[in-house]
Amino acid sequence: MHQSPDGPRHVAIIMDGNGRWATMRGRPRLFGHHAGARRVKEIVRKCPEIGVKYLTIFAFSTENWKRTQSEVAGLMKLFRRYIMRESRDLLAEGVRVRFIGDRIQLDPKLVKLMDELELLTSDNDKVNLTIALNYGGRDEVTRATRRLAHEVASGKLSPDDVDSECLARHLDTCFLPDPDLVIRTSGEARISNFLLWQSAYAEYEFVETLWPDFTAAEFERISARFGARERRFGAVPK
Ligand code: IPE
Ligand code: IPE
Ligand code: MG
Repeated sequence: MHQSPDGPRHVAIIMDGNGRWATMRGRPRLFGHHAGARRVKEIVRKCPEIGVKYLTIFAFSTENWKRTQSEVAGLMKLFRRYIMRESRDLLAEGVRVRFIGDRIQLDPKLVKLMDELELLTSDNDKVNLTIALNYGGRDEVTRATRRLAHEVASGKLSPDDVDSECLARHLDTCFLPDPDLVIRTSGEARISNFLLWQSAYAEYEFVETLWPDFTAAEFERISARFGARERRFGAVPK
């Protein structure tokens, strides 16, 4: 076991670079998405060994609808198949799966599979895998604010009780601690609307590797680097 007490407890990953990985091989973008999906298992399996209790992965953003209809449809089909294919292993391996993002715009067949997987794995607690699907940080804060406004309008909540804890409880991530480390693959150094509120004090690692090439060994190396960083949270160094 390489478990480190200083390692990140919650790692969030922007799994980027599937399209470029496929294009480099002269293949359609969806080929890259399938290869990317196959990477997830190895990373999830590594988590308990390195002390990562929460893993959150960005699968589809609220902006990804702008892609071609065929890419979007292919991704949605991939998500359905992924859940059907992986449910049994996730359950057996102690993974608790939850989804964040707006489900309203998703195909009801997919939403049903997501709900079923959440229920099926709800007693697991070895690793908490959260999949961000039709997720956008601004969209999430907007939806939370709308719910707060309704609660205030109906008299359930006083405006003076709206503080940062209250807002955090209304986010999709209300069951998650804030991420300690956010990794983005593929060399892009931006957050693309991922966990905007929650990452206020996260450490970031941007790596060149395209997501379908990302290995558990690289994941472990990056997590180990995290242990050496000094997190100050706005205070003076000790
Ligand atoms: C990330 O890979 C997966 C999704 C956004 C669904 P991309 O599809 O963005 O791959 P690149 O960035 O085009 O290489
Ligand atoms: C972010 O990647 C979303 C996911 C990984 C699901 P994108 O590839 O969509 O982000 P941009 O467009 O490069 O900012
Ligand atoms: Mg991309």
